[in-house]
Amino acid sequence: MPRKIILDVDTGSDDACAIMLAQLRPEIDLIAVCTVKGNQPIEYTTENTLRIRDLLHADFPVYKGCSGSLVKNVVYPRIPPTANADAYDEQGNKIHIHQELFDLPASDGKIEPLNAPNFYVDYLKNAKQPVTIVAVGPLTNLAVALIMEPQIVKNIEEIVIMGGGWNITNATLAAEFNIYDDPEAAQRVLHCGAKITMVPLDATHSAYISRKDAEALKAIGSPASLFAADLIERRIRVHDYAQPLEVKHSCALHDPLCIAYLIDPDVLKDVKLCNVEVSLSGLTEGQTCVDQRAIQEGRNVHFAFGGDPKRFAKILIEAFR
Ligand code: RIB
Ligand code: CA
Repeated sequence: MPRKIILDVDTGSDDACAIMLAQLRPEIDLIAVCTVKGNQPIEYTTENTLRIRDLLHADFPVYKGCSGSLVKNVVYPRIPPTANADAYDEQGNKIHIHQELFDLPASDGKIEPLNAPNFYVDYLKNAKQPVTIVAVGPLTNLAVALIMEPQIVKNIEEIVIMGGGWNITNATLAAEFNIYDDPEAAQRVLHCGAKITMVPLDATHSAYISRKDAEALKAIGSPASLFAADLIERRIRVHDYAQPLEVKHSCALHDPLCIAYLIDPDVLKDVKLCNVEVSLSGLTEGQTCVDQRAIQEGRNVHFAFGGDPKRFAKILIEAFR
């Protein structure tokens, strides 16, 4: 039976690929998509999500979520500043890793009347069977829902989070973007009591997607595969310039790796159950502190230290075929 999931996104180039993968693979039953601010403001992440839905001729419901973080930037802008993940082409034009709006036809704007946290509460309170939540943006929606109704956790089978980093960071010297954007929300979700699998930058950078993989998607020739190939090529250019991976001309495609894990758990490597806490202030704000000691208390997160690029590419390409 396909696994029922709710996807929480800040669409975003890699979020778009995660939506496409979840919609296209028969092992997944995508019951709803919630949006959150993150890569772009909420109006853009929501509109981008709707444009991807149209591209796929899909009809999953979309719930618009939080436009700001729980605490961050409410009173004062925090330090340290985030890094700028852009690149430049030969003409000196900026290539953004996430466009404000995708170069796709405007959507009809059709979203559900409930906002995302209310949807979580409503759905999970009444769910007949537990559901998996795949959260690939800042964790604000889920944290708000858990604050409103902590008992919804009983109907969560697993929370799969793209976020965090052990040896690798991107937003600051210490933190990955999704966690840095709303560290208080992340800390709350990590301690909600559900099974949590964390797919950090260490996993997504080692399960890289190559230019050859983008070419394979392009060769499929469907509107969705061509769009995904274009997003991946853009990401490769930015990675080569701003965040080079060990393998040249490749990129991390963070968010779809969470979906791939639900299809084939072996796409993640070196997964260890550890105590993970989020730093909430100072230079390390948003850092995921992973306890690696043999004896430790409060093991709350299955943390993936690596990923398998071949398995990941196979899952991705087969989906578009
Ligand atoms: O750090 C990578 C994450 O931040 C991805 O989920 C990307 O889409 C952004 O949200
Ligand atoms: Ca994302």
